Amino acid sequence: MSANFSKKTIAVLGAGKMGGILIKALVEKHQISPERVRATVAHEGRAKELSQKLGVKVTTDNVAAVDGADVVLICVKPQVVQELAEQISDKVTAQQIVISVAASVHTSQIESALGAGVPVVRAMPNTPCVLGQGMTGICKGQYADKGHVDAACALFNVVGRTVVVDEKHMDAVTALSASGPAYIYIILESLAEAGVKVGLPRDIATLLAAQTALGASTVVLETGDHPALLKDAVTTPAGCTIDAIMELEEGKLRVTLIKAVVKAAQRAKELALG
Ligand SMILES: NC(=O)c1ccc[n+]([C@@H]2O[C@H](COP(=O)([O-])OP(=O)(O)OC[C@H]3O[C@@H](n4cnc5c(N)ncnc54)[C@H](OP(=O)(O)O)[C@@H]3O)[C@@H](O)[C@H]2O)c1
Repeated sequence: MSANFSKKTIAVLGAGKMGGILIKALVEKHQISPERVRATVAHEGRAKELSQKLGVKVTTDNVAAVDGADVVLICVKPQVVQELAEQISDKVTAQQIVISVAASVHTSQIESALGAGVPVVRAMPNTPCVLGQGMTGICKGQYADKGHVDAACALFNVVGRTVVVDEKHMDAVTALSASGPAYIYIILESLAEAGVKVGLPRDIATLLAAQTALGASTVVLETGDHPALLKDAVTTPAGCTIDAIMELEEGKLRVTLIKAVVKAAQRAKELALG
């Protein structure tokens, strides 16, 4: 499958938060034309509302949406994936590519519901895809080849970065980068509160916190340096940063973050079960 999506038809099944973000971002970045998108939701009223909001065709008919589409993007909740895959199985062929963003649901489960030979790829994006700053982990099922993985990467590269992993790592990706924006927002909110506590207006405190997080992240990504070394460069002997770090260590920030991700990864294993 070619990685050029401009002439491809895409069915987005379950245009909720994540499906909607992907449609909006791909259309706004001119990667897909709105008339080549067929989206679905569960409720008629929501279909009408979403069609106006996104400027694409939205229905509740999954079978019609996948018929003849080049790419089928499954964006429903994990518990609905099996039923949805069985519903569309008669219309999906090995010439299409099925990409599921559902947490927890293995490619093998989707393959067996769709029927042998259909290429299935799993992608685990996150909400910053809405501004082209997403992070998406990608893995392939047994009938997908390198071309299918490249096509999925090309699709998600439009809305951020991608990394290809073995499927055994997908729950970890879910726990770290898909849930991750929530952890970062809590950290930013807390830092902004801290700014307010030490006398800054809230808007300035939020700007300082968010741009500092963006700057530090950019340095890690662009230099490839270990975060611990970068932290050392900020920590002047007997300065104020080391006093702050002592508070963070006493508050067990590191172990708390590690335990949070471990919990989320455990939960990611169970989601598909309901
Ligand atoms: N949110 C994230 O940050 C994130 C990140 C990575 C992956 N994901 C994955 O993305 C998937 C969706 O999550 P979400 O947060 O976007 O949930 P969501 O906002 O609840 O969206 C689910 C959508 O699926 C629709 N739907 C339900 N049953 C359907 C059916 N049988 N046929 C067609 N559409 C149906 C719903 O329609 P109605 O609107 O009419 O109810 C809704 O629009 C999940 O599997 C999740 O694991 C989410």
